[in-house]
Amino acid sequence: MSALDGGAASDGHAGATVSGSRWDDDPDLGDIVVGESTLQARVAELGAELTVDYQGRPPLLVGVLKGAFVFMSDLARAIGLPVEVDVMAVASYGSATTTSGVVRIVKDLDSDLTDRHVLVVEDIVDSGLTLSYLRRSLLARQPASLEVCALLVKEGRQRAKLDLRYVGFRIPPDFVVGYGLDVAERYRNVPDIRVYQGPVDVE
Ligand code: IMP
Ligand code: MG
Repeated sequence: MSALDGGAASDGHAGATVSGSRWDDDPDLGDIVVGESTLQARVAELGAELTVDYQGRPPLLVGVLKGAFVFMSDLARAIGLPVEVDVMAVASYGSATTTSGVVRIVKDLDSDLTDRHVLVVEDIVDSGLTLSYLRRSLLARQPASLEVCALLVKEGRQRAKLDLRYVGFRIPPDFVVGYGLDVAERYRNVPDIRVYQGPVDVE
């Protein structure tokens, strides 16, 4: 399955579980875009890759709240190095679901980034505006290196040129929830990634 090498989840059902999830009955949730076992396998792969790439220079993982909390928790445990973990929270001006590109830091890091190997852990890149703002802001703090690990990238949506060193899955541009991703703060605890088809306006 191409999804496992970081390619597109081409059939839109990569690793879909056959049955048995209580979330299958929720009418606001549609197709599974990335199934639980596919997610876990890819996170393990990313962890192994990061373990090699950061040998001898354990990174500081910077999770972008709230969406990255599930991914970062699994990813941190898949890396066989003494990583450090910090979090920040950003809010975008604009509607709840589309980014204006003007981003405000709501909770800043505790750590000093000077001379650190920083790995930003993001849930999803849509327009890319949030990430490009974050990257600029973090680079100004003089880290030794700065890379991004994004679980999901929506195909064909990026308005800014991005340097994404580590990507979990490239997915079609539907609005998705689960594995940390929300709509109006709900569905973050769904264990796989599903299309949202409920009443909240997401565009
Ligand atoms: P961007 O600045 O347009 O790349 O938007 C990125 C942020 O928007 C992400 O960190 C998410 O918080 C949110 N977002 C974008 N697409 C989705 C989605 O499909 N589901 C849930 N949140 C999303
Ligand atoms: Mg969000």
